[in-house]
Amino acid sequence: MPQPFLAGNWKMHLSGAEVDAFCAALRDAGLPDGVTAGVFPGFLHLERAVAALEGTGWVVGAQTCRPESHGAFTGEVSITQIQDAGASHVIVGHSERRHVFGETDAQVRQRLDAVLAHGLSVVLCVGETLDERQAGRTGQVVLGQLDAGTAGLSGAELVERVTVAYEPVWAIGTGQVATPAQAQEVHADIRARLAATFGNDVAQQIVIQYGGSVKPGNVAELLTCPDVNGALVGGASLQSDSFLALVAAGAVSRSGVNR
Ligand code: PGA
Repeated sequence: MPQPFLAGNWKMHLSGAEVDAFCAALRDAGLPDGVTAGVFPGFLHLERAVAALEGTGWVVGAQTCRPESHGAFTGEVSITQIQDAGASHVIVGHSERRHVFGETDAQVRQRLDAVLAHGLSVVLCVGETLDERQAGRTGQVVLGQLDAGTAGLSGAELVERVTVAYEPVWAIGTGQVATPAQAQEVHADIRARLAATFGNDVAQQIVIQYGGSVKPGNVAELLTCPDVNGALVGGASLQSDSFLALVAAGAVSRSGVNR
């Protein structure tokens, strides 16, 4: 079983002062044993979060990147600049990037390749819309995004540097969390596809996070699912006490209490 990974996607939230206070709370609390966890601030706050959490083990990552190192891309932030800021992870293919900003599978893959080429780790988000689910296309959509994001990678790259986040679009920011059974079904499909493509040994070591209305009150049950290895959390990651409760649940799941 891979080590659980609890990630807070702050989206376009929090002021500089709020980031400082949050990071101070994480420093004070410390990272529990047996869990990977951290926050994904907006670009403007990356460096201050990295500085505040240096040496603590808490992960600091970016929410997307421009795959080119430099160039005429007004308003964008390059993977090189993110690396320079000290981030260790980058989220790619979040549904808001796909559906609000129109990123295609090919563009998501360019970003993923750039992240790996710069030695950083990546969280690859996949997920179906409500229409796609109701049309019975969940597996096709999710596995298609997974294949597009992972084809041709090595098993070592996958195990060491790639996290998959299953985020049903209909559950993001809606309060409508997938049931553990719904999450487990898709997570099992994702792991089966990874096993078919990269071998079972690789597939068993890859973290598959669930995302979509995860909260301290529902995370423990989700983490009892055998193929749910963590969570990518938006709204409930914006207060440090709530985020720390999520991380604590991840650490407990690792200890086997819930399994
Ligand atoms: P949510 O967002 O937890 O607010 O639903 C999840 C995400 O977008 O990663």
